Formats: sequence, C-alpha cells, structure tokens
Amino acid sequence: MVWAILDFMVVLLFSLFWWTSHLIMKSQLYVVVYKCSSESADGEKAKGARSHLNRADSQGFMDMNGVEEGVEFLPTMNAKKVEKRGPKRWVVVTAVLIIFLLVSLLVGLLVWHFKYRRAPVQKVYNGHLVIQNLKFIDAYEISSLPAPELVMGAGILHAALQFIWPFLALIPPPGCSNGLLEGSVIAYYWSEFIVPAYRAKALDKAMADEQSLIQMVKYKSRNPMLQVNSIVAFRSCNFALHAKEGEITSFTTPGFPNSPYPNNARCTWVLRADVDSIISLTFKTFDVEVCSKGSDVIKVYNSLSPMEPDELVTLCGIYPPSYNLTFLSSQNVMLVTLITNAEGRNPGFKAEFFQLPKAKTCSKTLKGESGTFTTPFYPAHYPPDMDCVWNIEVPSTKNVKVHFNVFYVLEPGTPVSSCPKDYVEISNTKYCGERSQFVVASKNNKITVRFHSDQSYTDTGFSAKFLSYDSSDPCPGKFTCNTGRCIDKVMRCDGWVDCTDASDERACNCTTEQFRCNNGWCKPRFWLCDGVNDCGDDSDELQCKCPDKHFKCSNGKCIPETQKCDSKDDCGDGSDEGTCSKVVKSVPCKDYTYKCHNSLCVSKTNPECDGTKDCDDNSDEESCDCGIRSYSKQTRIVGGQDSEVGEWPWQVSLHVKSQGHICGASLISDKWLVSAAHCFQDESQIRYSDPKQWTAFLGLHDQSERTNEMVQERSIKRIITNSQFNDFTYDYDIAVLELQSPVNFTTTVRPICLPDATHDFPAGKEIWVTGWGATSEGGIGASILQKAAIRVINQTMCNTLLADQITSRMICVGILTGGIDACQGDSGGPLVSVESNNRLFLAGVVSWGDGCARRNKPGVYTRVSKLRDWIKQHTSL
Ligand code: ARG
Repeated sequence: MVWAILDFMVVLLFSLFWWTSHLIMKSQLYVVVYKCSSESADGEKAKGARSHLNRADSQGFMDMNGVEEGVEFLPTMNAKKVEKRGPKRWVVVTAVLIIFLLVSLLVGLLVWHFKYRRAPVQKVYNGHLVIQNLKFIDAYEISSLPAPELVMGAGILHAALQFIWPFLALIPPPGCSNGLLEGSVIAYYWSEFIVPAYRAKALDKAMADEQSLIQMVKYKSRNPMLQVNSIVAFRSCNFALHAKEGEITSFTTPGFPNSPYPNNARCTWVLRADVDSIISLTFKTFDVEVCSKGSDVIKVYNSLSPMEPDELVTLCGIYPPSYNLTFLSSQNVMLVTLITNAEGRNPGFKAEFFQLPKAKTCSKTLKGESGTFTTPFYPAHYPPDMDCVWNIEVPSTKNVKVHFNVFYVLEPGTPVSSCPKDYVEISNTKYCGERSQFVVASKNNKITVRFHSDQSYTDTGFSAKFLSYDSSDPCPGKFTCNTGRCIDKVMRCDGWVDCTDASDERACNCTTEQFRCNNGWCKPRFWLCDGVNDCGDDSDELQCKCPDKHFKCSNGKCIPETQKCDSKDDCGDGSDEGTCSKVVKSVPCKDYTYKCHNSLCVSKTNPECDGTKDCDDNSDEESCDCGIRSYSKQTRIVGGQDSEVGEWPWQVSLHVKSQGHICGASLISDKWLVSAAHCFQDESQIRYSDPKQWTAFLGLHDQSERTNEMVQERSIKRIITNSQFNDFTYDYDIAVLELQSPVNFTTTVRPICLPDATHDFPAGKEIWVTGWGATSEGGIGASILQKAAIRVINQTMCNTLLADQITSRMICVGILTGGIDACQGDSGGPLVSVESNNRLFLAGVVSWGDGCARRNKPGVYTRVSKLRDWIKQHTSL
C-alpha cells in the first residue's frame, strides 16, 4: 500500500514535469584524436532536471499544507454556524480536492503508463561530415588541446543536432593532395543518446535525413559561409560474445523477430572462443534486404577487424531455412557486421555459434577397395587457411579413381582456369569453382588429393568417393566416358549427351534414324526443323530456314521480313505479330495480341506483370501480387531434387480422407485452386467429385509434417471441373476448387500468376514441375516436395511422339533423353515458368503421360493459357 501511494506520488510529480527531462545524451570519441569532456553539459541537464523535481516536491508540500491550515482554522469560527455550515463547506472542499487529486493521479498514471513505463532506450550513432571550407591544420592532431577549430566543429554539430555534444576527431580527407578536397576536413563523431522509447523513432528519422542535417548544421552554426558537403549518421550497435564450453550461444539483429533491424546502422558482433578452439557460426534465419548495389549487407570475418583479406562471406537477400549458412573460423575469433542503408528494413537474422577444438590436421591416409572423404566440416563451409592431403591407396593390382559427387570450391571473382586461391589438386592439375560430378582416375593403385583454402572466402567444399577398378576393364559391361564415369552401352551414340564431356557422342556412325549435324553429332531425325537448336551449330534447323530477308512463322510458313510486325497476321498463326520489339499500342485484337482492360490490344508477347506499362490503362501491370517466392536465394542442389521450404509456395497437396495425398493443385488467390479434372472423377467406391472428401494442405513441404506451423489446412467448398473434360482423351483436363475459408499469404503460402490467353511458352523453354508423386514409374510417392526442370517440346513433334493424342489444350514438356518427368500423384500440380522480372507463371497442370520419364515420351500438361477464360468465368480472377 505504502508503495502504491509512493508510486502515485512519483507518477503525479513525474507527469507534471515530464517535459523538462525527456532527453539525456552522452558523447564519446570515435577516432581518438581529441577528447574533450561533455560532463558539464550533461551535468547541467541533470541538475536542471533535479531542480525541477525539487520544485515539484516543495509544490506538493505547499498544497498539502494549505489543506492542513484550512482544517486548523475551523475551530476559531462560530461553533453553531460551523456545526451547520462548516462541515458542508469542508466536505465540498475535500471532495473537490480528492476529485482533483484522483483526476491528477489518473492522468499521471496514464501518462506514465503510455509514455514512461517502458525504460528509456540507448541509441548510439557514429558517422562523419565533410566540411569543405575548414582548412586542416596540424593542431588538430594534438589530442590534449581542443583547438578552436575543433571546438567550432563540435559546436556546429552540437548546435545542429541540438542535444548532441559530440567529441570530434578531425582528419584531412584522404584525397587532400588531389586538390579537389583541398581545404576541407572530415569530422568523425560518435554520439550516444538516452531517449524515452517513444522518441526513438523520431530520433532515427532525424539522423537519417542528410539534407536536413546539413541545413541544420548551417543554420545552427550561424556561419552561412560554412560548406558542409555531406553528413552521415549510422546507428551503431556493438556486441561482444564469448562461446561457453559445450553450449550454443545465439544472437540476433536488434529487434528480431518482432521488429525489423534499424536503417543507417552499423552493428558488429565480436565472437570469441577459448584458446585452441575454432568457432562454428550458423545463420538459422536470414532475411535481409534483397542484394543490389549499396543494399543492406552482412559480412563475416575470420578476424576481429573488418578487413577484406579476412572476409569469409558477404550475405544479403532472403535465404530459405535449409540453405547451408554455416561458417567456420581458423582461430578462436570471428566478427559479424551488419551495415544497413536508409531504405528497406527486413526482419534480420538469428544466428548461433559454438566452439570446437582446433583439429591438429585434416590429412589422412585412406586404404581399401573404396571409401569416402570430404572437405573439413562438409556440408558446412570449410574453414579458411587449411591444407589437407588424402593419400589414397587401393590393392596393388588395381587402379584408383576419385568420383566427386558435389564440388563447390568457388571464390568470387577468381578465374577457374588457374585456381589461384582455393583449389583441389590431383596429379598437378588444379580444380576449383562450381562443378558437376566428375571423375579423376590414376594409372596405378595410388592417388593423392590435396585441398587448399586461403585466408578469405570459403565454400561448401566437396564430397567424394574413391573406387578401385580393373585397368583392363574400368566399366565392366558399360561404356567408359573419358571422365572415367560408366554409362549404359545403349547411351553411346544415341544422340543425347550422357557423359559430362560428351565423349559418348563422339566418333559415331549415324544410323538411318539419325541425321548428321555439320559438327559431326548424330541426332534423331525427328529433331530436324523443330525450332530447337539440337546440334549446337543450328545445322538441324538451317535447312528449314526461310530464304534471305524472310521471316519463319511458328507454323513453318515463310513471309517477307517487311510483313513482320505490320499489325497484320500474315503467318496465319499470329507469330509474325506476337514478338515485336516495338510495342504497338491499339493494334486490332487477335488471338496473339494482348487485350488491355480498356479493350485496346498491344503487340507484345507476354506483357503481363513484366514491370513495363504496356497498356494505356496499366491493366497489364495490375493484379501482379503473384508468382514471387518469399526467399530470394535458392539452394544449390547437393544431390537429389528435394525442394526448399518456401520454394514453390503455390503448391497444394490434395488429400482424400483415409487415402492421403492423391493430387496436387496450385493456389491462384486466397481462396481458389487450379487442379486437373481427372482427379475428381467418381469411382465405384469413392465419390471424388464430392468436395467433402478432400482436404487441401498449403505451405506443406514434407508429407509427414502436416501439423507444422507453416502449413495451412483447408476444407473444399466447391469443385468445378471443366464440362468439356474428356475422360478418354484427357482433353480439357482442368478444375478449379474453392476453399472453405481463405488462406493467409505467408513465406510458404503465396499464389502463382495465371498467364493471359495469349501467353506464349516457346519450345525449348525451361519449365519446372513439382509434386509429391512417384519418383519412378510404378514407384511410391515422395515425402519431401520434389522439383524437376524440363523443357517445352514442339507441339507437332510431340504429336508425332505421342501417337496424335495432343490437342491444343495440351502442352508437352519433358526431357527426351528420359529420366526426368512428372509421375503418378503429381496430377493437378503446377508446371511453372520463370518469366521476366523473375516472376513465375502457371504454364500447365500435370495431366498424363505414357509411363513416366521414358525416352521420347514427354509428359503432357493442360495448357492453362488456352483455358484462361474458363478460369475467369468460374472464379472471376
Ligand atoms: N495422371 C497422373 C496422376 O494422376 C499424372 C501422370 C503424369 N505423367 C507423366 N509421365 N508426366 O498423377
């Protein structure tokens, strides 16, 4: 109770005088050249604040004395009158006083609660300003004497920033001698503020506005001649952390995860570990402004000073949680820095570090028929300053080869031809950079693999296996690529490159089903004139070229160049008018022109959401909140085709009660999905057309983790299948599903863009298909969402390959060599294409195929652009 009363008193006093004491500030040296004390200034402020408080105290006593006096006077008055009227007046006065006190207390309490209850925050800035016409004199370097110019400089800044009394270090600009900056100084400062929490934002804003800071410096210095060229203020935040034995220490950017990191900040985290230890640092979540020149950036150093030669990595952008962001030091220190600019604030990062004993050596002797080895700490980034040697020895009658499954030894900006920095060396040959699988063989039973990492920039490293082989028959029953890899004999001279060095397709005699390219390759005859440069020298397409000064239409017709882009459909399929470099607005509307909302048409292929306004009414750039992933970085594939979390946020898994995952679908708005009509055909036991049978899982990555917080589960309200769907030919294989309740867009749930009816996905274009379907023909479904890159196949050629079953509502996509395809369980799922601006569009819906991943049997997908109007008709999207 006593505490409560005291609390109220303090609140009252505080509320009365709050405006007098709302800002306290300290300053210190940044570059230690001069040091002058600001204690007097601070002292003054503090004293001022105290004297206000004292006055408030005495004021409080006076009021109370007044009340006491009033009470004492009463007995001296007429007793009767006092008896009758006295108590009434007394009651009124007391009541008024109590009400006044209560109201004051309430107001005070509210003010205290909303403005002061949160502890004041400390804000530190450092930066510099360039004063153009203040000549640098040697006296500035005498730290004990505050030179008059220095005081002036300090005064300028003090006045300019009102509350700052910074210590300044004045130095000549580095370029003094070039004449340009002659007669100017750079003043470095370091300022610390302690402000009430509610003023912190305003302070940040004031410090971030360079122009107004310059104006203020000029105005407050009362020296209009003074030329301040630039003034920069960075928020500084410095942390020092020491690893604890056997424990993981975590740290985050300021405010993470509740608020974004500050603008104009320079933060450092000094990480230390015990002697004879090294540090392992992992960024668990990483969400920083997307990389561009001058964007916010995080750097990790293998030392305590931010020097380029010790830099391990520069990071910006948004990384998916599965990305390998583990870095190791070569000694017991590490430095992490964050530099942010004036715009764009993201959540930042959460990182963890711990110490590890420093290994004496990473070299090894490996003996036996086979074995594996990797760079130290693989798949974490290997430490800098490392040299490892693996001496491999297989039985004396055999030879040895080393197969690198994963190889990332890349230093930014270094030539991979000479590998001057990090490298792997075998028999005097250096390997570096990012390489797909390769094999190095030795002519005897021994091989030595050396690995070197220099002081700066590290990478994931490699994972390798060694194998012994019979020198007379290195690949029993198989063909040996020049790289040492063994491939099936049928792959030799079949027109497809299977060895990474193409040695399986060299020195071939073409069969009757093949034709010979000018460069000597043999290619299947049906690849002739398919619009794709299969030979590499275009010789498969040359012979079907149109005569000089003629344009070849997509349907093969030749028209004079002059008829291209003349707003007339001379080809008959519109292909001469679809791809015109100059956008002609308001051309006659045709199948191949894009129709703006104002009903005018433009002659540009795929103008939707490409970042350029093509329609006068801007309708081509409207409704473009789609097709963008939340993570700006994509993991390099380390084996397999598992997707990253959030890589395909429009992917939906459709489950049937008691059966689990049956089909895929794509999210196109917060409540509509697109899928395949054949998924919803009734069967004797199950009514697949009944929405109640289905549950949609959005934001799902792993089928075994459907209760994860990233997953949103929805019931289905309506299933609309295309009435023209033909369950024999699979023509019009499309359906739209309405969700029972809308989903929230998050990092793992976002819609895909729908292509316009005129959107073109040309033959040869790389497209992605995703799903949890079978990973091989007749196999079982995947638990982790799978992805595969496939290519659009020429429509006519596909029709030949798939026995004339292809309609204009279908698009064939696949890899004719076989091996990559969608399969059972992928149906209804998305086929997406990366278009301009890195935006993804739904090109197709997984529909059918002749088996899975067979040679010359591409997958068939519903061509979404052809059914765009049908989607609009049913969803209004
Ligand atoms: N109809 C299959 C399903 O229901 C999809 C088949 C896709 N096949 C292919 N080879 N692309 O899951």
